[in-house]
Amino acid sequence: MRIASISNRLHGLGSDKWAVHVAGRQRAVRGDDLIFLSIGEPDLPPPAAVLQQAADSMFAGRTRYADGQGEPVARRAIAAHLTRRSGVEVDPHQVVYTAGTQQGLFVVMATLVEAGHEVLVPDPYYATYEGLVAATGASFVPVPTLPEHDFHLRAEALEAAITPQSRVLLLNTPSNPTGAVLSPDEIDAIGEVCARHDLWIVCDEVYADLTFEADFCSPFDRPQLRDRAISVASISKSHALPGFRAGWAACPTALAPRVTAVTEAMNFGSQPFIADAVAVALNEVHPEVVTLKRTFHDRAAAMVAALAGSDAVKVHMPEGGMFVLADIRPTGLTGEQFAWRLLDECGVVVMPGESFGSRGAGHVRLALTVEADVMAEACRRIRALAEDIHAAR
Ligand SMILES: Cc1ncc(COP(=O)(O)O)c(C=O)c1O
Repeated sequence: MRIASISNRLHGLGSDKWAVHVAGRQRAVRGDDLIFLSIGEPDLPPPAAVLQQAADSMFAGRTRYADGQGEPVARRAIAAHLTRRSGVEVDPHQVVYTAGTQQGLFVVMATLVEAGHEVLVPDPYYATYEGLVAATGASFVPVPTLPEHDFHLRAEALEAAITPQSRVLLLNTPSNPTGAVLSPDEIDAIGEVCARHDLWIVCDEVYADLTFEADFCSPFDRPQLRDRAISVASISKSHALPGFRAGWAACPTALAPRVTAVTEAMNFGSQPFIADAVAVALNEVHPEVVTLKRTFHDRAAAMVAALAGSDAVKVHMPEGGMFVLADIRPTGLTGEQFAWRLLDECGVVVMPGESFGSRGAGHVRLALTVEADVMAEACRRIRALAEDIHAAR
């Protein structure tokens, strides 16, 4: 077969990371009774008003080709949403509508980097990022973040990883898998380093609306970083609508037509009826969204309480997002070994920390996407397995 190198570069960076989850799914189909804490998919209902708008718009004929940059109604709503968030004006021309955060990240990355460039990524990182960067031909440069800093990126660690080839810092706040939420001071310190080295800051903000105690802050919201920051997000998590594939990249005005050109080459537009629904999602306050945020906070607190005080498994309250990253290093096992034993011996499916980079080693990621009683049972089994292994050492 005479093919390009992209699929070679992507080989092993996709489904291998999900091996435990995939095995769990296969066993569930065969009839095993398993608890899945492996996937970051909200289990709560999306806002009824948003679904209604999508249906109404579909029947009203909003099913034709859309504007390549995104329907104006959606771009206006996204710009207003981002303006409300920071108080710094965002113009709809700065917004490119995308098929979710993942596609937003892809088109932005393809616009900014290629072979010979380096993309800096705080480690642990979201499981698709290696593939995202590899697809462009650029090199992926993990920047360590440490458990003793609650996995917050430090400006010094970033500075130490920068080379003349560095072009982009790919941030994710709130972070999947660590739950870290960067503060304004941290963003400013990181931003100062990026400005000095003329780096773009691409920020994955898919969990922006799911912060708990800490307030959300984006590099895009900082006036001094507006010319180098790109905010990428969606309504997948905030409104429990991942299947809508509805997101955006908000960027400096001059960059927007460049990102649009890449998006058009890929999609040639989006779905007008979903664009109308996005406008309703962002322009109105929905009780379902308020419940969703409160539920994830309460589940995180309940999970941390259920595992607190153990010598074998250590957790801390995430600052945002939909996950708890549990440190199981006292068991002496890798995250992967522990995840397989949990599946085989306890019927609980989790993600090994190693799927999120070398700094995730010795951890497992627990998704907060099941009801409280099921989660409590999963925590009981996780704790019992970790403590048995720890006691036997
Ligand atoms: C950190 C992070 N970024 C991006 C995505 C993908 O989001 P979307 O559905 O908006 O493409 C996810 C989904 O789990 C995620 O956790």
